[in-house]
Amino acid sequence: MLTIENLEVVYEDVILVLKGVSLTVPTGSIVALLGANGAGKTTVLRAITGLLDIHRGEIRKGTITLNGDPIHHLDAPKTVAAGVGQVMEGRRILTEFTVDENLRIGAHTADRGTIEANLDRVYTTFPVLADRRKGVAGYLSGGEQQMLAIGRALMAEPTFLLLDEPSLGLAPLIVQQIRDLIVEINEQGTSVLLVEQNANMALSISSHGYIMETGKIVMDKPAEVLRDDDDVREFYLGLREEGATSFRDVKHYKRRKRWLS
Ligand SMILES: Nc1ncnc2c1ncn2[C@@H]1O[C@H](COP(=O)(O)OP(=O)(O)O)[C@@H](O)[C@H]1O
Ligand SMILES: [Mg+2]
Repeated sequence: MLTIENLEVVYEDVILVLKGVSLTVPTGSIVALLGANGAGKTTVLRAITGLLDIHRGEIRKGTITLNGDPIHHLDAPKTVAAGVGQVMEGRRILTEFTVDENLRIGAHTADRGTIEANLDRVYTTFPVLADRRKGVAGYLSGGEQQMLAIGRALMAEPTFLLLDEPSLGLAPLIVQQIRDLIVEINEQGTSVLLVEQNANMALSISSHGYIMETGKIVMDKPAEVLRDDDDVREFYLGLREEGATSFRDVKHYKRRKRWLS
C-alpha cells in the first residue's frame, strides 16, 4: 500500500503547491488522481519518486510510506529500488537511441539475466515494440513512444507504477490501447496511481478517484460514484456541456469545464 499523509510541498522555498494532500493506493488497485492543469498532480508524483529537488521543490510536511516504510526521504534511484516506477509527463524517452536501448536503460542496475528476462516480458506485453526493437525511438508514433515509456518503467519491476497523463495528445483509439495496457499491467500484479486529465478513461479502470484543485484533494470517492454522480461530473470533471444555468456561479463552472477541452 502506498500512503501519502498530509503532504505539503513548496517550490523555491516559498511557493506552496501542495497544501496537505492525503491519498492511498491499496496494493493491487488502480487509483485515479484527477484535476485541472496546475492543480499539483505532477508534484504529488515528484514527491513520491524523489524528484522534487531537481525542480527546486521540497517536502515541508507530511509522510509518504510504501507498505509501512517511509520513502519521502529517498532520492530517485532509491525509490526505484524500493519498487516505485514512474512514467513522467511527456514520456521523456531517448529519441536518438533504439527501442531496445531505451528499455535496457530502465533496468540499468539489474544483472544481465534479469534484464533479458524483463525485456522478454515487456516485448510480450508490447508486441509493437518488439517489432521495432532495433529502430530509433524518435521515429515511433506518439502512442508507441508512450508504450516505450511505460515499458521502460516496467523494466525495473515496480510494484507501484505512477503514470503521469499517459493519454495526453493521443488519438481516442490509441488512448483505448493504453487504457487496456494499464489494465493488463495491473492484472499482472502492479498497483497503479494514474494521473489523468482524461477523467472518463481513468475512472473507467480505477477503483477509487481523487480530485485535486489548487494543491488540495477536494473529492475522494469510489470511481463508480465519481463516474455516476452528475454533479461531480459537471462541477469537478467538466463532463457535460449543458446544465451551466443550474449553477449560481457559471464562471466557476466554466473554469472547471475547461478540463477536457
Ligand atoms: N519547478 C517549479 N517551480 C515553481 N513552481 C512550480 C514548479 N513546478 C510546478 N510548479 C507550480 O506548481 C503548481 C502545480 O504544478 P503541477 O504539479 O505541475 O500541476 P499539474 O500536474 O496538476 O498540472 C502549478 O501552479 C505550477 O505552476
Ligand atoms: Mg502535470
